[in-house]
Amino acid sequence: MADAPVFLVQLTDSHLRDDDPSRLASLTAAVDRVLALGVAPSAVIATGDIADQGRASEYADAAAQFARLDAPLVVLPGNKDDRAAMREAFGLPGAPEDRVQSVSTHGGLRIIACDSQIPGDFPGDLDLAWLEEQLAADRLTPTVIAMHHPPYRIGVTALDAMGFQPAQRAALDALLTESPNVLRVIAGHVHRASFGTIGGVPATTASSVSFQIGLDLNDGPVDLRPDEPAAFSAHVLVDGDLVTHVHPVVPAAG
Ligand SMILES: [Fe+2]
Repeated sequence: MADAPVFLVQLTDSHLRDDDPSRLASLTAAVDRVLALGVAPSAVIATGDIADQGRASEYADAAAQFARLDAPLVVLPGNKDDRAAMREAFGLPGAPEDRVQSVSTHGGLRIIACDSQIPGDFPGDLDLAWLEEQLAADRLTPTVIAMHHPPYRIGVTALDAMGFQPAQRAALDALLTESPNVLRVIAGHVHRASFGTIGGVPATTASSVSFQIGLDLNDGPVDLRPDEPAAFSAHVLVDGDLVTHVHPVVPAAG
């Protein structure tokens, strides 16, 4: 029998809100689609903006959906998340306001989950000293680095304004240049699938499992696109490399 595939399912930017049931319905549909793959993910990673208001009830709803996947769960916060409430809901260690960061290995694939939140603000900020330490600790295991904010500019002005400062991107770039076992950097935040690089490493943002933001190359304001499909990403280890699939979430037939 063939070995079980090693793959990570990335569910991002569900922005659950108690007053908008469509968000939970969309996350539920995404989980349905993952289950329909018929093979258990090696791990599920939620790359932030899980909750829209940082409420315990929103995290409880998210946790209930993630639990349906019966797979190891990795969570990290986005700009809208509340670290203390996340810790409580997902039983995470650490002081309430500490960064929610972790390192774990699933099916031989290491995930370094970085917290890029600036509490109460939209742009990103990495703890690069911590990341450097984790990278130095293991130069061999194939590694995915996850964070909420994209590590590269995506070319949509309104979204790039909510990213990392150039100096931090440059520092990350330098760090990754020295880290050949990093296969991919995965992120969310921009509510659309995109592909770039940082420090020579392929990097990607996942679509939101809830609502998308349009491709505006004309410096316009953030353009919500309810007409574009929600999706999740599946990062599959194939021949020692990582292949990223963008899987649309379509409602169940009937
Ligand atoms: Fe975000």
